[in-house]
Amino acid sequence: MRILGIETSCDETGVAVFEAGRGILAERLSSQVQIHAAFGGVVPELAARDHIAKLVPMVGAVLHESALELIDLDAVAYTAGPGLIGALMVGGSLAASLAYGLGIPAVPVHHMEGHLLACMLEADRPEFPFLALLVSGGHTQLVRVEGLGRYRIIGETLDDAAGEAFDKVARLLSLPYPGGPQLAALAQTGDPERFAFPRPLKNQGLDFSFSGLKTAVRLAVESCRADAVGVLDHATRANVAASFQAAVVQTLTDKCKLALKTTGLARLVVAGGVGANRCLRQSLNDLGQREGVRVYYPRPELCTDNGAMIAYAGWCRAGSSLAWPPRIISKPRWPLDDLTPPG
Ligand code: KG4
Ligand code: ZN
Repeated sequence: MRILGIETSCDETGVAVFEAGRGILAERLSSQVQIHAAFGGVVPELAARDHIAKLVPMVGAVLHESALELIDLDAVAYTAGPGLIGALMVGGSLAASLAYGLGIPAVPVHHMEGHLLACMLEADRPEFPFLALLVSGGHTQLVRVEGLGRYRIIGETLDDAAGEAFDKVARLLSLPYPGGPQLAALAQTGDPERFAFPRPLKNQGLDFSFSGLKTAVRLAVESCRADAVGVLDHATRANVAASFQAAVVQTLTDKCKLALKTTGLARLVVAGGVGANRCLRQSLNDLGQREGVRVYYPRPELCTDNGAMIAYAGWCRAGSSLAWPPRIISKPRWPLDDLTPPG
């Protein structure tokens, strides 16, 4: 079976072809960073327009690279949610139209299930059950994963997502959009102990909260600015970045430790954009070693949004009974634990 995967939930256009038994045959990613940078964040209307401009040529490119024609496809998977409604509808419209024209199923995929299963594209893949830490721009969740579509959210953020906190603090430090990777780079030269930022909800269950941490950073930055007559030097900015990153990493690590203990699970899967953070990977690897837990990550480019994870998750669900004629399903809000096993 060969399946085309289309990801357009936010500001990355991702397209890939997956073939059962062979894996990903080709993939393309087009980032909209340049378009949104001037606004300091994603502008939904511009995101949708750029998906429209990029998507069809990208589908042509992945098919060409896979040496396939449209008629060689057996299904088309697309991100149906959660995400920006206009952006989702672009991918959904193309997927449903292609599927209708070709007489094949269109498979609506939950974006976070895509992230969750991305590690299955690696040679060293986890068996079920496992604990998943989903850390992206819109989500921070601990999920007990018993099998495909059997997800129980056992902890989540009460306010900002971890990636959102990275992006907001990056803005406070005048770093260009998208802030997370820029902040991580700046943190490399800073002292993580220079500022004693809070570890929110420490020892208080499995939920997260990052908005108070963000406020603590803002107050520290304002106080340093006042001392420095308005301008923060590079060393201070690096110290703020490193101390903030340390607070997030320690919080995520402590919650994973507690979740592993309470569930008794021996495998941890880390997914979503913040999963690309090297400091977090180091800390979770150390935790895994101490606790005798195997930790799995997709390679960094499969942590952030991409078409390959949607093609793969679509393949996992392609056997279920799907609507004919194909429908365009777009759900800006869609809780992960609404999903059920395929069938
Ligand atoms: O999974 P993703 O690509 O998109 C969403 O589904 O949200 O995650 C994007 C988020 C952004 O907030 C971005 O700043 C953050 O992941 N991110 C990082 C790193 N790379 C991406 N945060 C910290 N360190 C990184 N290296
Ligand atoms: Zn994502």
